[in-house]
Amino acid sequence: MTSRRYAVLPAGRPAEFPPDARARIERILSRYPTKQAALLPVLWVAQETWGWISREAAEEVARILELSPAHVSGVLTFYTMYNLEPVGRHLLQFCTSISCHLAGAGGLLEHCRRRLGIDLGQTTADGRFTMVEVECIAGCDRAPSMMIDDAYHEPMDPSKLDALLESLP
Ligand code: FES
Repeated sequence: MTSRRYAVLPAGRPAEFPPDARARIERILSRYPTKQAALLPVLWVAQETWGWISREAAEEVARILELSPAHVSGVLTFYTMYNLEPVGRHLLQFCTSISCHLAGAGGLLEHCRRRLGIDLGQTTADGRFTMVEVECIAGCDRAPSMMIDDAYHEPMDPSKLDALLESLP
């Protein structure tokens, strides 16, 4: 598992995609019939670039795709996969939907809360971990399921989680 390293996005300054992200966006645009249709993947590039999508980043996406900032904002607040606040180097995503709930997701979550000393939506003081709750991530048959960054971990239990947390930079 790799550690996520993000470009720094200065607060209050216009966001500018670095050249590699800009090249990705150009490739994405070449596959869509209109610029506007590429909104979701371009927002994903923004999130992978900065780790989250600030107002400035959303405005830059709107400018590139010739959309209104309000339209981009509406999409951002509809889809829960976009981070609207800064996150730690590792995003711990706990599924608490019904199958995972019945398989002990609540206890797992509580274990992690105690271990890291943070609550849902918070980031550890060292910037390593952010804990969030998510809806079903399609791992119900191996519940309780969780994702750490882009990787599934299932079925998860407190000792496996401890080992993973230890191993991550
Ligand atoms: S309910 Fe948790 S993965 Fe589906």
